[in-house]
Amino acid sequence: MLDLFAGEHPWQEPLAPGAVVLRRLALAPADQLLHGIAQVVNQSPLRHMVTPGGYTMSVAMTNCGKLGWTTDQRGYLYSPVDPLTQQPWPPMPAAFSALCQQASEAAGYPDFRPDACLINRYVPGAKLSLHQDKDEPDLRAPIVSVSLGLPAVFQFGGLKRSDPLQRLMLEHGDVVVWGGESRLFYHGIAPLKGGHHPATGECRYNLTFRQAGNSEQK
Ligand code: SIN
Ligand code: FE2
Repeated sequence: MLDLFAGEHPWQEPLAPGAVVLRRLALAPADQLLHGIAQVVNQSPLRHMVTPGGYTMSVAMTNCGKLGWTTDQRGYLYSPVDPLTQQPWPPMPAAFSALCQQASEAAGYPDFRPDACLINRYVPGAKLSLHQDKDEPDLRAPIVSVSLGLPAVFQFGGLKRSDPLQRLMLEHGDVVVWGGESRLFYHGIAPLKGGHHPATGECRYNLTFRQAGNSEQK
């Protein structure tokens, strides 16, 4: 029987050259991903990092995988050790790697092998100003970004900060992949609006997968 209301299936929306939105791709594994976040956070807690300019970020962050992105008064860097615990970052949960592999294949980057996953938590009012992801040595590798929980407005521009921005709502289960021509495009998250999501409560999580080491190091 034809069931028109059988639930959402993932679909794709082109965003820019080399960039695509994979709508709802992370919906099926969402509970496993949230379980993975809880495990990581248990070992390497979420924390508000301070930028080199002395600004305390409104987004709370932690990492898993071989390398983790951190910032402090000295600068931005990828480190194998969590500066808070002085221990290696927790391993990447299997559900993270599986979803990332599925997403990068669907987006046309089948060889992507992330060695770092940044976990961002946004509460209402938290935002991420327009920036480029440019701390990674090998820019041939794309960025895979997964949204869970409350919806957020994602801004996606161009190579210059002043380039016009596309604004799109990212919802629970959406995945954005950008690489190739758009790998260094400016992007950000507008201040999160309050609300309640059945899976995450009062917040939004974002997982950002990167290749942060050189491929020959792996
Ligand atoms: C990021 O740019 O690192 C995160 C983007 C997002 O939260 O969707
Ligand atoms: Fe980013």
